[in-house]
Amino acid sequence: MFGNNEKLALEAARELDATAEKLQDRDKRRGILGMVRCIYDVARHNLAKLEPLASDPAAFDRVILATPVWADHITPAARAFLIQQKERIKDLVLLSSSYFGPKNERFLADIEALLGRRPSASFLTTQKEIKDNSYQAKLNDFLRSLR
Ligand SMILES: Cc1cc2nc3c(=O)[nH]c(=O)nc-3n(C[C@H](O)[C@H](O)[C@H](O)COP(=O)(O)O)c2cc1C
Repeated sequence: MFGNNEKLALEAARELDATAEKLQDRDKRRGILGMVRCIYDVARHNLAKLEPLASDPAAFDRVILATPVWADHITPAARAFLIQQKERIKDLVLLSSSYFGPKNERFLADIEALLGRRPSASFLTTQKEIKDNSYQAKLNDFLRSLR
């Protein structure tokens, strides 16, 4: 919504020379009403209506998902992606920028419940660290550990 997770995804793609794709949510989520809609959908575990993917996750050894935390949970777009693609994802790595960053334990449990396993590695940072760029060295270390 604010571009923090897109920034993480694009940096990871650049560093790892990987393909990047944005999940395209067909629902409108801008403005105050959009925000209310986000929380309503998260609370009900509603799935976003996603545009078809350009790439097939099964074609890759590893899929890196970058997603914010909304109301302690993953977003409707990330939920829809994991439910639709879980059989086609060989290895899932998670990147996430949120307000509480590493404190969002419940969020990892959410992913485990959907995928049947935890992501093989995860990088949780805060929106504050994105803003002041202090996430960068940590992200580089994390991405190096994936090589
Ligand atoms: C509707 C909504 C709910 C949110 N709920 C949480 C939350 O429960 N915990 C948290 O740590 N951050 C929460 N946040 C903050 C976002 O996760 C954070 O701003 C994130 O960096 C936004 O990423 P983006 O720029 O990729 O959209 C929420 C943000 C929105 C818009």
